[in-house]
Amino acid sequence: MTKKPDTGNKQRDLKPDTRLVTGGRDPAAYHGFVNPPVHHASTVLYPTAEDLLAHRGRYHYGRRGTPTSEALEQALAGLEGPACAGVALTPSGLSAISTALLSVLDAGDHILVSDSVYQPTRTLCDTLLKRLGIETSYYDPLIGAGIATLFKPNTRAVFVESPGSLSFDVQDVPAIAAAAHAKSALVVMDNTWATPLYFRALDFGVDLAIQAGTKYIGGHADVMIGSIAANAAAWPRLSQSVGTLGLCVGPDDIYLALRGLRTLGVRLARHQESALRIARWLQQRPEISRLIYPALESDPGHAIWLRDFSGACGLFTVVFKPAAATAVRAFLDSLQLFGLGFSWGGFESLALPFDCSGARTATRWSPGGPTIRFHIGLEDVEDLIADLERGFAALAAAH
Ligand SMILES: Cc1ncc(COP(=O)(O)O)c(C=O)c1O
Repeated sequence: MTKKPDTGNKQRDLKPDTRLVTGGRDPAAYHGFVNPPVHHASTVLYPTAEDLLAHRGRYHYGRRGTPTSEALEQALAGLEGPACAGVALTPSGLSAISTALLSVLDAGDHILVSDSVYQPTRTLCDTLLKRLGIETSYYDPLIGAGIATLFKPNTRAVFVESPGSLSFDVQDVPAIAAAAHAKSALVVMDNTWATPLYFRALDFGVDLAIQAGTKYIGGHADVMIGSIAANAAAWPRLSQSVGTLGLCVGPDDIYLALRGLRTLGVRLARHQESALRIARWLQQRPEISRLIYPALESDPGHAIWLRDFSGACGLFTVVFKPAAATAVRAFLDSLQLFGLGFSWGGFESLALPFDCSGARTATRWSPGGPTIRFHIGLEDVEDLIADLERGFAALAAAH
């Protein structure tokens, strides 16, 4: 894990796309090569017994950091902005969530968690955190400043995920953060949907910002990795927790994430452009009752998204008009370009049927028809639309 180095005003002035290209790079340290070496490393040798006993030197043990891990951590820290005090890497997005929560919570604490969090985050709260004596209350993601009424004397943290998983509710993060900080609670955010490129969470009052780097940072459906960016208030306990838990990530996976990060800007711009075109096309289809995508003017979260975010990724939900389960299956099975799968953020398009009504306790999920989450990849939009037309033909034939 890396405490953010002081890069001076010059680095701070750079635009995000330039930071994506320059962050965490030091060619002079690597014989002029553009990219850092991939250090497969555990033991660090010391030149003398005195050096060893004094723990002298920049690196001490592979688990505690290598030039490869530092390169990605520094690149991510630059993207998270000036409020970032340090970044830690974890072996998956879910482990970033569990580590961030374990770093802020103690036995006897209470946490407020948004009702539309990624389902395994909920499972973590309802099982392991519960077993450790930590109580969870779920709240309506759209509660905004009203969250102030839900704090208990032992509320230590608020977890936000915006837009929320599957239902893509856009949360008023600054209002929630203000209410949390007024009660001395920390704000932990799963910011995977927007990435720090489109939502710099720490600037909006978030104390610990999580990325499932498995999605857009890696961007190629070939790596599992997570990251946690912390502000100065949260960094000391986070870095201590990561070290104590013994978390580290394999160098090849770090390298894949760093390689993916360099093209995040162009990929996300294309995901967004294609997603908007396809979402608008789907809105006109007679089989569809509603699109849930904050970048659309018709979305209830559009105003807050416009206020706080600088872009949207390629992930949205489509609510179909009532249709038989067999017809929806026929739609999905006829798709040739859209893969059927869970993990999004790669270059490829995906479709995922879901029903999250059983996973909500503070709100009610009742969309009025079958729901499919789409990830719009980097294929040509016309080909994707032709694929969806094939799906609609199969849906009609199966009706
Ligand atoms: C919003 C969100 N957060 C976190 C995760 C977990 O990431 P990982 O699969 O790398 O553990 C996912 C995975 O689907 C996700 O969608």
